[in-house]
Amino acid sequence: MATIENYFDYAATTPVHPRAAAAMQRYFQSDFGNPSSAHAFGQVAFHAVQASRDSLLTHFNAPAGSEIVFTGSSTEAANLVIWSRAIDFYRRTGRPGLILISATEHAAVRNTVSQLEAYGFCRMKVIPVDSAAILRLDVFEASLAEDPVLVSIIGANNELGTVQPVREVVRMCQAAGVPYHCDATQLVAHSLLDLTECPVDYLTFSGHKCYAPKGIGALIAREPSSLRAHIFGAGQERGLRAGTENVPYIVAIAEAYRLLKETYPERVRAETGLRERLIGRVLDEVPDVRLTGDPESRLSNHASFSFKGIDSLMLQSALDQEGYAVSIGSACRSNQVRGQQQLVEIGLPPDWLSGGLRITNGLYSTPESVDGLVGALKEAVSKIRGFLS
Ligand SMILES: Cc1ncc(COP(=O)(O)O)c(C=O)c1O
Repeated sequence: MATIENYFDYAATTPVHPRAAAAMQRYFQSDFGNPSSAHAFGQVAFHAVQASRDSLLTHFNAPAGSEIVFTGSSTEAANLVIWSRAIDFYRRTGRPGLILISATEHAAVRNTVSQLEAYGFCRMKVIPVDSAAILRLDVFEASLAEDPVLVSIIGANNELGTVQPVREVVRMCQAAGVPYHCDATQLVAHSLLDLTECPVDYLTFSGHKCYAPKGIGALIAREPSSLRAHIFGAGQERGLRAGTENVPYIVAIAEAYRLLKETYPERVRAETGLRERLIGRVLDEVPDVRLTGDPESRLSNHASFSFKGIDSLMLQSALDQEGYAVSIGSACRSNQVRGQQQLVEIGLPPDWLSGGLRITNGLYSTPESVDGLVGALKEAVSKIRGFLS
């Protein structure tokens, strides 16, 4: 039965937490004003947006002078950073600047950079990862000598769960004087990142990985004057993202991250407990399976595997029939792609490449639902293998 306990796809999206839902409610109805209006209704909305800005900047302990820009998604926030740096360099020099990305970027970054490259506005260089999906720091450091205009390295990978050595990347970028964008969409939903201690130049994230609604994202920029708008209009978000602000969702994302801080570290402890229970049982009880991504440096709620000789689409569908929601990759791609690029990047042999499965737990997961999932998984794997042999 498809109950919420059997939902194991929190890396794709989370339900809205009742506290986030309650916080935003009044901005749909009684306090519905437009933040740009000078009258009292508008001012209530304006102050709600400002308070949410302050709350998130405080949550991340952003250095003085940092600003937050609200967007419609993490994808849009990443686009704002990448377009800004690429277009600015191109306008100043007439040449396409180099952008370094990792081999395990989400499409939000990879496709943005490759599209800009296709337009002639930048050049993309992909830094490889090792077999645990950790960035090859030796190659990265050497590539910084090529004078890139931007580095965009994901904080934690959505498909394999690996958390990148963000502090090292920051240190190397600072030493080379290159701005660093961190797509922290997954990372910051499961950790408390302090931007004063770990000063990435641009941090992007979204609401719906952390119990706020879909359709709200944000960018925190250490030097906001380096940003260049690519959505024009009435000048909201200090001219960087025109369009009337989504006040309820802005309030909800701030509340969701406040909640994360309040419930941290119990939340992460619970996620890690469920993750380890799942990984332990799957590796012990299912033949020909391997954990993908780094066993230690990984998101607290994230388990990912590859099952030898199995088409994970069949596996996902068999589990779905039993009421368990899991993923075969990033949600945006799982309807489209069979072979899993990230498994190629970590060097899995061919007969392991189509068997990738991602299982991510969250607030409504329980030890019993994990055990139920393991049972269903064992049965499905053995049925599919029996059928194929
Ligand atoms: C690492 C990462 N970056 C970016 C995104 C895109 O987020 P959004 O759907 O908010 O645009 C996702 C969503 O899965 C993600 O996991």
